[in-house]
Amino acid sequence: METIPLILDCDTGVDDALALLVALLHPKAKLLGVTSVHGNIPVQKAAENNLSILKLFHREDIPVAVGSALPLAGENHFAFQVHGKDGLGETYLSPGSLSPIDEPAALFIARLAREHPGEITLVATGPLTNVALAFLLEPELPRLLRRVVVMGGAVTVPGNVTPLAEANIFNDPEAARRVLNAGFPLTLIGLDVTMKTLFGPKEMARLKNLAAEKPALQFIHRALAFYTDFYTPILGTAACPLHDPLALAAALDPSLVNCQPMSLYVETAPGQARGATLADRRHGRAKAFTSPPVDVALEVKAEDAVEFIFSALERARSQ
Ligand code: RIB
Ligand code: CA
Repeated sequence: METIPLILDCDTGVDDALALLVALLHPKAKLLGVTSVHGNIPVQKAAENNLSILKLFHREDIPVAVGSALPLAGENHFAFQVHGKDGLGETYLSPGSLSPIDEPAALFIARLAREHPGEITLVATGPLTNVALAFLLEPELPRLLRRVVVMGGAVTVPGNVTPLAEANIFNDPEAARRVLNAGFPLTLIGLDVTMKTLFGPKEMARLKNLAAEKPALQFIHRALAFYTDFYTPILGTAACPLHDPLALAAALDPSLVNCQPMSLYVETAPGQARGATLADRRHGRAKAFTSPPVDVALEVKAEDAVEFIFSALERARSQ
């Protein structure tokens, strides 16, 4: 089986943690490093969560780099109400035994991309600050990375933190504009598809059984229960969307989503539309936005994606 070298750049809340588990457990994934960014929680806490999870799965050989504590402009908007005070649904995992590496996340991303030209897939499941800084440090980054898969945006559907903006883009629109317009070979996994990829009672029961066999998975079952409590009134059913795990799954198996190339405009002006990801979807007219296109995921094989994520978790049994 072909393995895919990955860097995961995340603001480690509950769904980032599930994405990290898929990256650790799926046989197609070769995780080269985990970088943390501000977003759901402060950056240092995101790095601590990454270290805790790597310890739990005996993978402290994987380096953890700390990234940006702040967006390029503006201030933090943490989401403790969604992910809990610890970012992991108040499961309070034991700390890892190691510390993050000394190299900042943006330098780490740029260095690894140079050392493995054309090989690495970067999966970004938080605000795009570290990726924008890595691009500033290494202008060849769009050609050095094999692929960038971003969880972010809402191109054909409403936003989540504001009527128009999705959280990862809203948390650093200036970085998002630079990254989405830079010419990366980039797939955008936005709310267009993640809000259709749900974990409900059937999946929670299946995960509970699995965690009874493999106690290292108990924390993610409890964290997803916390996350589901937040999403239940929003979805009108006891379920939660698998935003970040879907991005990771699509990085490993692109056939899980159908994409259309689109040039995007990221609104950075203050006001109600800040953080919106806009496409000119008019027919028969010259397009208003002309930046290099990105592949925007518009359809998802949701059942297959959930099964893909589960098949990775089930690998924990044999560890
Ligand atoms: O909008 C969903 C995204 O925002 C996910 O990455 C979630 O972890 C939060 O960061
Ligand atoms: Ca995230």
